[in-house]
Amino acid sequence: MVFRRRTGSDALAARACRYTGALVLFAMTPVSSPIITHSAEETIAFGRALAAELCPPLVVLLCGDLGAGKTTLVKGIAEGFQAASRDQVTSPTFTLVHEYRSPRAVLYHIDLYRIDTERELETLGLDDLLAPNSILLIEWGEKFPRLRRDRDMEITLERVKDELGESKRRIRRTTR
Ligand SMILES: Nc1ncnc2c1ncn2[C@@H]1O[C@H](COP(=O)(O)OP(=O)(O)OP(=O)(O)O)[C@@H](O)[C@H]1O
Ligand SMILES: [Mg+2]
Repeated sequence: MVFRRRTGSDALAARACRYTGALVLFAMTPVSSPIITHSAEETIAFGRALAAELCPPLVVLLCGDLGAGKTTLVKGIAEGFQAASRDQVTSPTFTLVHEYRSPRAVLYHIDLYRIDTERELETLGLDDLLAPNSILLIEWGEKFPRLRRDRDMEITLERVKDELGESKRRIRRTTR
């Protein structure tokens, strides 16, 4: 499913509807059809729509290179949960864990880029964050086989290069 960039409020409404339709495919199959976004704004809009499909408890690995858009997607998910605004969501690269609370769930945004060993991972105590109302959104979790094995969902973001620039992303989801 491909989403083309438009402007204006009609276009925004149309885009939201398209994401909702695409989300049925994105959410229902073990390996989703890819979704293409053309800007950070579109990835945030997609994250907002995706939030409606995320029911705690959930461990979600967010996979993709540096700058792929993982944190940008979390901005949308946090907005979708009304847990935080996009500006409040910043990268937890140094703080490692950020927490955003909403009536529906507690979101933990975790960045393991600077964590190198299983032992360091243990000291973070991620298991203690698992609760019936928690959703763990983990960047760079794929480095650890244990997390890969235990996750409920993996969302992968990839840059798609084309002649128009570097802002296109392909987003895929895999569940158990
Ligand atoms: N379609 C797009 N989707 C998401 N981000 C985009 C898109 N196009 C451009 N960008 C830009 O790419 C950057 C993505 O940064 P972001 O921090 O979300 O990446 P990340 O995957 O979390 O990286 P890191 O691994 O370093 O934490 C932002 O500057 C964002 O504005
Ligand atoms: Mg990030």
